[in-house]
Amino acid sequence: MKIAFFAGDGIGPEIMTEARKVLDALALPGVEALEADVGGAGYKKHGHPLPPETLEIAKAADAILFGAVGDPDCDNLERHLRPEQAILGLRAALGLFANLRPATMFPGLEDMSALRPEVARAIDILIVRELNGDVYFGEKAIRTLDNGLRQGFDFMSYDENEVRRIAHVAFRAAQGRKKRLTSVDKANVLETSQLWRDVVIEVAAEYPDVTLNHMYVDNAAMQLVRDPGQFDVVVTGNLFGDILSDQASMCVGSIGLLASASLGEDQTEYGTKGMYEPIHGSAPDIAGQGKANPMAMILSLAMMLRHSFGREEDAQRIEKAVSAALADGVLGADLGGSASTREVGDAVVNRL
Ligand code: NAI
Ligand code: MG
Repeated sequence: MKIAFFAGDGIGPEIMTEARKVLDALALPGVEALEADVGGAGYKKHGHPLPPETLEIAKAADAILFGAVGDPDCDNLERHLRPEQAILGLRAALGLFANLRPATMFPGLEDMSALRPEVARAIDILIVRELNGDVYFGEKAIRTLDNGLRQGFDFMSYDENEVRRIAHVAFRAAQGRKKRLTSVDKANVLETSQLWRDVVIEVAAEYPDVTLNHMYVDNAAMQLVRDPGQFDVVVTGNLFGDILSDQASMCVGSIGLLASASLGEDQTEYGTKGMYEPIHGSAPDIAGQGKANPMAMILSLAMMLRHSFGREEDAQRIEKAVSAALADGVLGADLGGSASTREVGDAVVNRL
């Protein structure tokens, strides 16, 4: 198990330390740890957020555990030198197109949700977001028209192969869960969405055990706060997935609880390379103060063991230890408690 640990900047190194403690506590055989600088740490030491040696290590590794990047010292650098380019660069270089974002309500934390506790209790959603296409990657510009007005445009497109491969990821994920899949689009208005819907329906024929429904994104946004318990797996494009997954994170209480996996082709088989990271950023406002919640990072480690190494039992052990620590009231400041980053990590290790 060749694991690349890219801690990044800000709170990244603090939460990574806790995740590595948890991994060490599992005492798994054959772990080979690789480390390299990314983001602000990469820029400060090597002049680039994704230094060539870091990319080489990423390519050599079986999986990448990624902390967070976003050092404000780099705010005024040109776009290609900014810390976030490390994430985009790694996704592109490794062909990671499937972003899995589970949002689950932990027992005892219902009061921290932005929703009413009795509504929040039912949240157990996996958002499958396409990561390499859509309006984010189309031709884009701000141009001046003949009449002198400035016009901005971003070209939205998906080809059928891009839709098909993310649909397969989502259907397979649904097979491992409650076998319900909601495909979110805007097919009443967008041709891109019409193709999306047509292809998802074609793919559905291969998964007769999964119940598929379709929802327009505006309705999905409403349903997510009205009755989140109706969702099992949600599959959607890059733009809609970006927005809906941030919305889902607030429904479960804190951004410090949400992990993610970014997977590439061939992710039916274990041994797939993936990158695993919290959905939050490097939180410069609390960096170095021991206030960061390491749970999202620790849960990202669990996702790595599940998806890249086929170690479902170990993943569940970690998830149960996290859940138990939270239920016992080991909460950081983001959840209204006073436990430090290290105390939260220790609590998970103790429960393992
Ligand atoms: P952020 O997610 O870093 O922080 C937002 C708020 O949530 C802050 O108040 C922060 O203190 C809090 N927070 C975040 N993670 C937390 C944790 N684990 N425990 C407790 N509190 C936590 O987003 P923000 O402030 O918009 O961005 C900061 C930098 O991070 C920016 O440069 C941004 O571009 C970058 N960023 C990087 C991401 C990544 O590495 N994947 C994702 C999002 C933003
Ligand atoms: Mg986002």
